Amino acid sequence: MKVYLKDIKEADCASDALILPLCEGDAGASLKYIGPAAGSLIKKIISSGEFEGKHNQMTLLHTSDMIRPDRILLAGLGRKKEISREKIRQAGGKAASLLAGLGLKDIALSARYLSSLGHLPSDFVEGSLLAVYKFSKYKSDKEAKGLKSMMVISRPDKHLRESIKWVTALASTVNFAKDLINTPSNDMTPGRLADVAKSLAKGKVSVRVLERKDSEREGMGAYLSVSKGSVEPPKFIVLRYNGGDGAPVALIGKSITFDSGGISIKPGEGMEKMKYDMAGGAVVLAVIRLASGYKLPLNLIGILPAAENLPGGSASKPGDIVRTINGKTVEIINTDAEGRLALADAIGYAKKLKPKAIIDIATLTGACSVALGNEAIAMMGNDDPLISRMKAAGDETYERVWQMPLYEEYGEYIKSDIADIKNTGGKTGSLVTAAYFLKEFAGEVPWVHLDIASVAWADKDRPYTLKGATGVGVRLLSTLLKEMK
Ligand code: BES
Ligand code: MN
Ligand code: ZN
Repeated sequence: MKVYLKDIKEADCASDALILPLCEGDAGASLKYIGPAAGSLIKKIISSGEFEGKHNQMTLLHTSDMIRPDRILLAGLGRKKEISREKIRQAGGKAASLLAGLGLKDIALSARYLSSLGHLPSDFVEGSLLAVYKFSKYKSDKEAKGLKSMMVISRPDKHLRESIKWVTALASTVNFAKDLINTPSNDMTPGRLADVAKSLAKGKVSVRVLERKDSEREGMGAYLSVSKGSVEPPKFIVLRYNGGDGAPVALIGKSITFDSGGISIKPGEGMEKMKYDMAGGAVVLAVIRLASGYKLPLNLIGILPAAENLPGGSASKPGDIVRTINGKTVEIINTDAEGRLALADAIGYAKKLKPKAIIDIATLTGACSVALGNEAIAMMGNDDPLISRMKAAGDETYERVWQMPLYEEYGEYIKSDIADIKNTGGKTGSLVTAAYFLKEFAGEVPWVHLDIASVAWADKDRPYTLKGATGVGVRLLSTLLKEMK
């Protein structure tokens, strides 16, 4: 959907539907934009109690030639004093889904009311853009439905123009990540992920893919152990974006293209969803793509230790001991705790590139959603300034992060009798012990770990995120990095 700004009277804009966002009990404010005839119609609807302006309430009416737009969609924002950026995003999502569902093509948004409240109409646009995502690659009958354009009616405003440009870039980046995550593992192998990474190599982005031999030479035995049971060759993908000065920030994304659990095999029910175990890697690719497209003035390293975790005849087995890039030995208690094995080597590899910070993002533990439901990312780290920046970006984007502790006592949980460390400490505290395992590899480098297992996939529709891959992490990290430069 193409979004553009136009300074025109609402009543004069030719469109299939004009969206009028409204707060509860504030009808008067909007009516001045649409002229007396349509205005009195809306007044009637409001006084009849049919539309109250409750948050996410939507009422559609035909204008029968009273004004140029064919329809008006009243979009409820809720109480004025409770309005928030997220509520505006959600209303934008609801409105766009409804209009797209009707098969409409060209819509318009009256931005004046939101601006008059001191809010950014671009939040509404962001919700709309995110809501109309569809994954139809594998459907033979491609629905022709889909919004084509949204005219944002406003005075020319440099700030609004900039913020619309930003949310448009964000939404297309989120959709890029969602496509990768939704693609099943037979088509999204480590090799395919490497191809996608290579397709981003232009301008200030360069890409190097380490093949199995290269990773062996680097000594990444923990990472390599994950794909031993699969015929899909592992690909250790390294991207660099050089858009500025100074030490880079390293972004590491868990990239298990399918996680069967390996020999410690998972139960069959719901296993099909384990194609999303590369969501972290997709987020990293997406963020690099955005940084390059938007020319963010900073340096980034993206690392995707891609592998497929299957129980083949040569798969690694519980009890096996592997050696990581920094020399530490790991006893594999459970082959289903494979993410941390891959990430440990990726963190070790990143450290050699002297980053100023390491952020890893991973669908790491089932315990993450046991703790937080599907409402927040679990965050752990060793650097308070980076942690508070992450919190701020989480609040801004509503990709909320919640910090969990990394008490040193957790170190005891993952002590191995015969190796330096073991890859699981059992059920108790498994969200935090997984992170503690990574902390042992991050050492002194400022590091934050984001466990997105709770939010990377949605089983139900939300106002602007439909079922399936959510792309969560893209808006969070993009916003963090934009404000970090
Ligand atoms: N990829 C899974 C975690 C996961 C589970 C993500 C459900 C999304 C939804 C991870 O590799 C895993 O299997 N973790 C195990 C670790 C355990 C064996 C210590 C878990 O959390 O059950
Ligand atoms: Mn696993
Ligand atoms: Zn996994």
